[in-house]
Amino acid sequence: MPLDRMWGAVHNNVVLNESIFADLIAIQNEVTNLRQTYSRMNRRGKGPNFSDAKVREAYALAYHPGHARTYLDIYLNQGLGDCLIEGLSAESSVGVLGAGAGAESLAFLHFAAIRGFRTDEISLGFVDQADWSAQRKVCCIDKVQEVEGRLPYKVASFVQDLIHPEALNFLSQFIPKMDLIFCPAIYTELDSQENGLGFISTVCRLMKADSRILVIDQSNVNDFAEKCRRLVDVSRTRPIHQGNAIVRVPDPPTGSLASVVLDGIPYQLKNGRIPRRRYDFSWALLQKV
Ligand SMILES: C[S@@+](CC[C@H](N)C(=O)[O-])C[C@H]1O[C@@H](n2cnc3c(N)ncnc32)[C@H](O)[C@@H]1O
Repeated sequence: MPLDRMWGAVHNNVVLNESIFADLIAIQNEVTNLRQTYSRMNRRGKGPNFSDAKVREAYALAYHPGHARTYLDIYLNQGLGDCLIEGLSAESSVGVLGAGAGAESLAFLHFAAIRGFRTDEISLGFVDQADWSAQRKVCCIDKVQEVEGRLPYKVASFVQDLIHPEALNFLSQFIPKMDLIFCPAIYTELDSQENGLGFISTVCRLMKADSRILVIDQSNVNDFAEKCRRLVDVSRTRPIHQGNAIVRVPDPPTGSLASVVLDGIPYQLKNGRIPRRRYDFSWALLQKV
């Protein structure tokens, strides 16, 4: 079962940079803070401060596995994955905006390999305003190697605030080279900082003909499900695949570090956006015409 396999792998031998936490309670406090930040973001507060290594570690431990599994579930069970690899060649370039620890990429490379698509000549470009290289190596690259036994041909990382006025220079170089662009769980953060629809329309304007962009995020945060439907109008693109899904997230495997940490801070509805139980995701895969 691919989902179980990935779920086991993302929790297996997770090396948290524990030296930055005094003890288990300190990790639990950081996850609790992250939940509260997300809960406030739902009411137009700012997103997490991922320039703080503790916040990145808490996300990598508590949110990254659920995101990776949810993406894979949607790729496999909603028909999205086949649309993502359709039109890609073995040497395609894939760009990820707001890559974080690389949950979408881990799921995508795993899905592609399940379908027999060669991923070892793909080039991957990760972009994020925070430097996630340590967490991405442990939570994505090493896991791809563990599950697939091979890695993409080239992996590049760029630290870039995508809504900074100077980002347009970067985007003008980066976006036209890409065959597929992921915007995974960044849209709602961009909306809380500035204007998500405006950002996506800028990216779409820079895309080369026939390239594709996947915008995927939590349906009920900052009205994303509704904005997702409007993306086609603002972007001069052709919709390839659109949908909504409620995806169950199982508890982390007993004995895993995530299980020990999360069992100490039980799920509560008032936490708003939670690291387990279920995700409500919406998405739009669009093709540049
Ligand atoms: C919720 S995380 C998603 C990480 C990963 N893609 C996933 O789905 O698990 C959102 C990411 O977007 C990044 N981000 C938010 N605003 C950004 C901006 N203005 N420029 C670049 N990255 C940004 C954050 O640093 C964070 O890593």
